[in-house]
Amino acid sequence: MVMARTRHEGALLGKSSIKVKGREEEEEEEEEARGGGGPMRAAAQRLMKVFVTRRIPPEGLATLNKAGDCSVQLWDSDEPIPQSELLKGVAGKDGLFCLLSDRIDKEVLDAAGPSLKVISTLSVGYDHLAIPEIKKRGIRVGYTPDILTDATAELTVALLLATSRRLPESVVEVKNGGWTTWKPLWMCGYGLSGSTVGIIGLGRIGHAVARRLKPFGVTKFLYTGRHPKPEAAAELNAKFVPLAKLAEESDFVIVTCSLTPDTQGMCNRDFFGKMKKTSVFINTSRGAVVNQDDLYEALVNGHIAAAGLDVTTPEPLPTNNPLLSLKNCVILPHIGSATYATRNTMSVLAANNLLAGLKGESMPSELKL
Ligand SMILES: NC(=O)c1ccc[n+]([C@@H]2O[C@H](COP(=O)([O-])OP(=O)(O)OC[C@H]3O[C@@H](n4cnc5c(N)ncnc54)[C@H](OP(=O)(O)O)[C@@H]3O)[C@@H](O)[C@H]2O)c1
Repeated sequence: MVMARTRHEGALLGKSSIKVKGREEEEEEEEEARGGGGPMRAAAQRLMKVFVTRRIPPEGLATLNKAGDCSVQLWDSDEPIPQSELLKGVAGKDGLFCLLSDRIDKEVLDAAGPSLKVISTLSVGYDHLAIPEIKKRGIRVGYTPDILTDATAELTVALLLATSRRLPESVVEVKNGGWTTWKPLWMCGYGLSGSTVGIIGLGRIGHAVARRLKPFGVTKFLYTGRHPKPEAAAELNAKFVPLAKLAEESDFVIVTCSLTPDTQGMCNRDFFGKMKKTSVFINTSRGAVVNQDDLYEALVNGHIAAAGLDVTTPEPLPTNNPLLSLKNCVILPHIGSATYATRNTMSVLAANNLLAGLKGESMPSELKL
């Protein structure tokens, strides 16, 4: 007999209570669900235990609940789970549903123990997962590529325009009385028409950004990465170049690569030093691709014109971070994929990845380890 377990009405109803069940409580519930011994007991033992590290969109949770063959324990909060609770919560689970802000390292995997079969992350980035350790343990990983590409590309274009045309600064000037009259050179920025755009990482999101920018009248696309991408490049008439050349020639540099040991700190003093003084730097990948001290120096000393960041190190960026004092730096709180539809779809895909992985079936989106 398969038993549906609905333990998180709080989350489904949008209540704000924080609850993580202890193991004892969970065992009691299982015993109750078993209703004694015999065949029912054997069936109930096949209930897969899942831990969800945050309150997720209702569609995702409903997908887990509807499956009926897993018992879901949820950290029912919008705030990150403390490490001690994560270690307790994951213990003895078969599946883990996590977010990009959860560091799933050796300590967490040890706490989970040998029962852990599947990790499903609500993100396309997986730099928060200790992949070699996960691979060693034979754990499968699900992630959410493609479905967030459009939303993230759209946000990247919005951030680029906000930064290059100084939108946040202009809005403040209107509110604080700085708008005294129409002035020929006031609030001028840089336009895309006739420009050269350099994309670091012409993957799903990088390609989608370039497609959206082309109709703005971009003259030339450059890109860099580990391998040339002939198909995407042909569509965009984009040229594969070394990183240094991309820095030297681009009016807009857009970072859309994944965070790896190779890309960590790649945008540093040397890189910014090669960029044009009139160029605009945009990062919607991961904060650690950028050396932020070097970026600050480049912005303050006028080595580059402006920067727009959707991702930072750390996240959230402390409000006293020097970058926040600069008018030519626009910082967003990691909202690349933040449309209602995208987040809902991501949560359903992540739930389906987890469920398929638990059943030993092929996942809708499995990361090849
Ligand atoms: N801001 C947000 O909210 C948000 C939302 C979604 C995703 N993201 C970030 O965006 C990243 C990209 O997502 P995606 O779906 O476009 O992934 P993707 O299709 O895998 O693209 C990643 C790109 O990074 C490139 N890359 C890898 N190593 C590189 C290197 N050393 N130098 C330059 N490029 C390198 C890859 O090029 P090769 O194929 O040549 O290796 C690939 O083109 C994710 O990993 C995530 O961190 C952010």
